[in-house]
Amino acid sequence: MPYRMMVVCTLCMLLIAFLLLGSLRGMESIDVDKLETVIMMTLIPLSVATIGMFGIIYKQIRKKAYDKNGRLASWYRRTVKLMGTEWIFKLLELTVPEKIVNGSQLSIANVSANKGIYDRVLFNSLVEKGVNIQMHLMDLEKIDKHVESVQSEYGTLKYYEKLDALEVVSNFERLEILPVDVLFDIKGCLWYAPKKNNGKNVLRAFKAYYDVLKPGGILVIDAMDIGTFEISTNKIIGSIIDCKYPGYAEKSTTQKLDKYFKAHPEDRAWINEHFELSYVEIENHKPQIKMAIFKKVNDTQV
Ligand SMILES: C[S@@+](CC[C@H](N)C(=O)[O-])C[C@H]1O[C@@H](n2cnc3c(N)ncnc32)[C@H](O)[C@@H]1O
Repeated sequence: MPYRMMVVCTLCMLLIAFLLLGSLRGMESIDVDKLETVIMMTLIPLSVATIGMFGIIYKQIRKKAYDKNGRLASWYRRTVKLMGTEWIFKLLELTVPEKIVNGSQLSIANVSANKGIYDRVLFNSLVEKGVNIQMHLMDLEKIDKHVESVQSEYGTLKYYEKLDALEVVSNFERLEILPVDVLFDIKGCLWYAPKKNNGKNVLRAFKAYYDVLKPGGILVIDAMDIGTFEISTNKIIGSIIDCKYPGYAEKSTTQKLDKYFKAHPEDRAWINEHFELSYVEIENHKPQIKMAIFKKVNDTQV
C-alpha cells in the first residue's frame, strides 16, 4: 500500500508540474525558459525527497511490529507496568491448585510470550514452592531483550525465537516438547486470528492448541471486559505519556473472538465440544484481570 501511494503521489506531482509548464508557455510576459529551469530544479529534488520519505515510511511499516524500533516496541514494557506480575501465579493457584504443591510436576507453554517477563516471575514463584516445572516460551517475532533460558534443579525454562503458534504441533514435535498442562495465548495469536486468513486461523489455532494439551489441560486467554470509550481515552493518554498505559488500550481476545463467533457459530460449536469454558478473575485487581479457561475435554469424552 505505501509503495503504491508513493508511485501515485510522484506521478501526480509530475503531472501537476507538466500541466503548470504547459499553461505557463501560453503567457507571453513570462520568460518561460527561465521559469522552466527553475521549476525543473525544484521538481527533481522534490520528487527525490518524496520517494525517500515514502521509502522510509514503507520500511517502518514493513518492520515487524514488536521489533526493537517497531511500532509496538514499547507495548510489552508498558503493559507489564500496568498489570504488574503477581497475577499470573494467583491465576494458577485458582486454576490448577493441585499442581502448585511441593514436589508436583507442571508443564507450561506460552506461544505468544513476547519478552516472557510474567512467565519468568511465575517460574521463580513455582520454583520457590518446590514445583518441578518445565516452561516453554515462544513468539512469532524475534523479540529484543527477551528472558534467558534457565536450568535449575527444579526444572527448566526455555525460550524459542520465531515460532508461529499456528504451527505449535509440528514445533512441539521437532523440539521434542511433550503435551503441556497449561498453554497461554494472551493477546497473541488468537487476538490477531479473526482478522487473518478470513478468520480461518481461529479454529486452526484452537485445534492446534487442543493437540498439544494434556487431557484435562487448560488453554488460558485474556477475557477482560473493556469498553470502547475506555480504549479510546487510554489510547489518547497513552500516546501522550510514554511510560505506562493508564488502562487497557485495546480489546481483549475474547471480545474479538465473541464477535467472530457470532458470524461463525460452527467454529464455536467445535470449541464447545472439545473444551469446557470457565472464567477466572483476580480479586480486587486494578485494572481488571479476567481470563477465559478452556479446559481440554478428555479425548475419550469427545
Ligand atoms: C500484544 S503482544 C502480547 C504478549 C504477551 N502474550 C502478553 O500478554 O503480554 C502480542 C504478541 O503475540 C505475538 N504473536 C502474534 N501472532 C503470533 C503467532 N501467530 N504466533 C506466535 N506469536 C504471535 C506477537 O509477536 C507479540 O509478541
